[in-house]
Amino acid sequence: MASSRGHQPAVWSQAITDEAPALSPVDGRGVSEGIARMTTMKQRAESALLRSIGTARKYKPLRRLLNRVAYLLDKGAVQTMTLSPKLPEGLSWRELDRVYSFCRRLLQTQAEWRYGPARVHDVAREGFEALSPYTRLQEKVYCDLGCGTYHPYGIATVMYLNGAASTYSLDLRAGNRQRAAEALADLLCDCCSCPDKWCWSGIDKWEFLGRALRFDIQALREGRLDDGLAELPLQHIVTDIHGPALAEDSIDIMTSRAVLEHFLDFEVAVRRLFALMRKGGIASHHIDLVDHRSYVSSKYHHWSFLAEGDDWSDGLVNRLRSCEIRPYFERAGFEILRYENRIGKMPEGFMQRVAGRFKEMTEEELSVTGVLCVLRKP
Ligand SMILES: C[S@@+](CC[C@H](N)C(=O)[O-])C[C@H]1O[C@@H](n2cnc3c(N)ncnc32)[C@H](O)[C@@H]1O
Repeated sequence: MASSRGHQPAVWSQAITDEAPALSPVDGRGVSEGIARMTTMKQRAESALLRSIGTARKYKPLRRLLNRVAYLLDKGAVQTMTLSPKLPEGLSWRELDRVYSFCRRLLQTQAEWRYGPARVHDVAREGFEALSPYTRLQEKVYCDLGCGTYHPYGIATVMYLNGAASTYSLDLRAGNRQRAAEALADLLCDCCSCPDKWCWSGIDKWEFLGRALRFDIQALREGRLDDGLAELPLQHIVTDIHGPALAEDSIDIMTSRAVLEHFLDFEVAVRRLFALMRKGGIASHHIDLVDHRSYVSSKYHHWSFLAEGDDWSDGLVNRLRSCEIRPYFERAGFEILRYENRIGKMPEGFMQRVAGRFKEMTEEELSVTGVLCVLRKP
């Protein structure tokens, strides 16, 4: 196939055929010819696909679709390589290294890459800056609420390096532990090589580095999460916030990013958040108020769900607007130290389409796409 052009998806696809199980004599000629024909057809389809991606450069939706199909084909190849972790026949380490270094460099610059240090830096920094006027990390128990499945220890590790006594990373869902370990090794290497970029709390730089070296970075690099974290006061708890795994009055500092909009029974959830905090505890929450369908489909924009009736639900987000959220915090007993709206530009004429209770709200209220708030438990 077109591997001579050096296009990587073609090379990976080559790996699928190379790794196909050998046929035994009892399979017969007909079967092996059939497989050979299918393989050729698949290779032709892939070549056509790659050419189409090239020509579809100007048409974004088509390009996206074709890239997606190419991704699914390559996923099979990657899975084959994962099952048999050796260099696929016909592919040299030089070729693999080209993919590795190209992808790595590309990803390093993406703040969206959820396994990479750049995103952890942005999210942790935002949380830290929101909290620092009101509290210090030193000696505190920190919780990353809704840490996600990709880099569950990322933010908690940065808070630990900056002085937190212990940390919880809490989420409903677990993730791939081996990948989480590798991501953590990358993060720690970045923290050790550029401490000024990560050391924010006024903690002594040697103490910061000393904390980083308590992790077994080699074990993490090899994907061994438990060994890499042995004896460290960092816990990943896979639970619903309402579950008993986390005790009441146990958290001094909490941050979350894009989590609270997922609490469908918001009243009960906010009461639970209040109960989890210790007296004097500080929480910073960044709440994403946009229609999450707009992240996966260009059919929707950030406000599309406001045009749905009152009983609509995607089972994912609560659709609460900023002006509705604030009173929940107050009723639960939180003191609001900061409450900042992020405003977007609603599409022209969309106000006429809003439905249900949103009709009672002003354009200014509905334009809010996010909230950053800092709360204290008195
Ligand atoms: C949009 S993701 C954000 C993940 C992460 N904070 C980030 O910015 O990458 C929301 C996360 O909140 C978690 N979550 C939602 N409801 C939860 C609940 N009741 N208890 C614990 N975690 C929850 C989800 O499992 C999901 O991982």
